[in-house]
Amino acid sequence: QKTSEDSIKISPDQTPAAPGEKVIYKVGVDIPYQPFSMLDDEGNPTGFDVESIEWIAEDQGFSVEFKTIAWDGAIPALQSGSIDIIISGMTITPERAEKINFSTPYWTVNQAVIAMDDSDATVDELMAGELTIGTHRGCTAAIWIDQNLVETGIMPEENLKLYDNPPLAVADLINGRVDTVMYDSTVIYDIIEGKPVKKIGLVETNEQFGIAVRKSDPELLEKINTGLENLMESPKWDEMIEKYRMK
Ligand code: ARG
Repeated sequence: QKTSEDSIKISPDQTPAAPGEKVIYKVGVDIPYQPFSMLDDEGNPTGFDVESIEWIAEDQGFSVEFKTIAWDGAIPALQSGSIDIIISGMTITPERAEKINFSTPYWTVNQAVIAMDDSDATVDELMAGELTIGTHRGCTAAIWIDQNLVETGIMPEENLKLYDNPPLAVADLINGRVDTVMYDSTVIYDIIEGKPVKKIGLVETNEQFGIAVRKSDPELLEKINTGLENLMESPKWDEMIEKYRMK
């Protein structure tokens, strides 16, 4: 026999769950962004971020359903309610934090610059605007290059090439269509493994990743922060770092 205490409190944005049933939150992930979010052999989302939010949901008594999103549409999708949570290696920035709320940080990256093994491209040449560079549309690397190299007039705008996902940028590097690629260090190290590509430098942007929710969902944010803290203290955290060979 269920009592009213069994019913789960939900925030006004979500569909009410029947008493005793868990609320389902729609989680937006942008794929491929290995090792944080990618597809397994059956086509299901997997990765560090995917497993993290599944663990947090279990810990905090809610359910999750994954929806794939385009990176530059992630924040609008959250604001419009087509998703309730973003976990997708999202860097916490002051501009984004004006629109959405972030959890406590769970991972840090810098911007790694890569070139072909046999290339003599240098970061000095890149910073002087003499090379072409590829990256993922809408990401913090694109914003950094825009603000520091394009808007300052150092680099011609056409030297910056934007791609729909990070592996496409690396593929164009290998095809000789760009001189360099800049991207989140943990992700680019994973993508270039086994490829004839080397790191030529690191821009220390010291970016913190956070899980995002709508500003109108403070209770969900609290659950996520508690679950995240529990996760980071549990053995599961180090197991995942090992499993996904996080660098
Ligand atoms: N950290 C970068 C940013 O916040 C890139 C994240 C891209 N994430 C993804 N799942 N594709 O802009």
